Amino acid sequence: MESAILYKVLLCIAIGLQVLATIYAIRLIRRTKYNAIWILCIVGFVILCAERICQLLVIDGYEISFFLFVALGLIISVCIPIAVIFAFRLVNYIDRMERQRLLFNKRIMTAVLRTEERTRQNFAKEMHDGLGPLLSSAKMTLSALPHEGLSDEQYEILRNTRHVIEEAIRSVREISNNLSPQVLIDFGLAQGIQNFTTRSAALFNIDIKFNTNLRAERFDGDIEVIIYRVICELINNSLKHSGCSTIKVDLQHINHTLHLRYSDNGCGFDPKAMAYYGMGLSNIASRINSLSGEFEIKSHRGEGMTATATISTATENSERHIKL
Ligand SMILES: Nc1ncnc2c1ncn2[C@@H]1O[C@H](COP(=O)(O)OP(=O)(O)O)[C@@H](O)[C@H]1O
Ligand SMILES: [Mg+2]
Repeated sequence: MESAILYKVLLCIAIGLQVLATIYAIRLIRRTKYNAIWILCIVGFVILCAERICQLLVIDGYEISFFLFVALGLIISVCIPIAVIFAFRLVNYIDRMERQRLLFNKRIMTAVLRTEERTRQNFAKEMHDGLGPLLSSAKMTLSALPHEGLSDEQYEILRNTRHVIEEAIRSVREISNNLSPQVLIDFGLAQGIQNFTTRSAALFNIDIKFNTNLRAERFDGDIEVIIYRVICELINNSLKHSGCSTIKVDLQHINHTLHLRYSDNGCGFDPKAMAYYGMGLSNIASRINSLSGEFEIKSHRGEGMTATATISTATENSERHIKL
């Protein structure tokens, strides 16, 4: 008698759970593409409910045909496997969507980077070809001025003006070179990076060691620009934040893959702390991600930092060509 009550309670709990599952399945119908899964699940749960109710009736002494149980069991045996097959297709569909989303994000990122790079180039060109010649001709005109008969004060003003114009010419050249490095465009990665490291080392009086097995190899435009910008940002970060005395940049091209290893001996930081993800570091990560590459930063407070990046240079990996 006691066991009959226990069975009834358990059967009621099972019925309750199946009703709940049916309600969730009904709500899922509107939310996913593969409605057939949820319809089959609803049919399965309703039949399971009916089966439990029949079992309750049997416990209460009602006679229920054995064939009814067989029929209910058969319907469930058909519904559940078909629902699982549809669920498998649903998972595949979700995977496909996720892959497409990632690809789409990558394409957007690549388009943004190309537009950014083109804007920089246009601006650099305007400065170099527009403002540069104007300043040069101002300097030449000044030089053509006769010096005889000038008072000391006038001569000093003339000298200062020429000095200011020369400074302006140098600045225009430097700004336009920072915006769009001519050496990188003309001679490729190794020479472009070498130029930047030499200039930064001299300007900030620190030791920057650049080691590479690259000679004059040229890569896809996107790869060259992105690696160059990544190294510039890493060096700028070390100069700005770390107080380091030495920076090492190692760039190797092995088996169609570029391996970048960068380190400084500065104050270090905790790369996991969210506060450290400024625009610079997250831009690096997105730039490398747009090339399907990998990027990792390791650092501890007081122990400097190391960053590594790997990017494939195999042609099938790139549908990219930044026109430089
Ligand atoms: N080489 C480094 N040494 C020490 N701290 C660093 C270094 N690189 C980055 N950081 C820390 O990470 C933060 C985020 O860097 P970044 O994303 O480039 O943004 P930003 O340079 O604009 O501050 C920096 O503010 C700095 O605190
Ligand atoms: Mg930065």
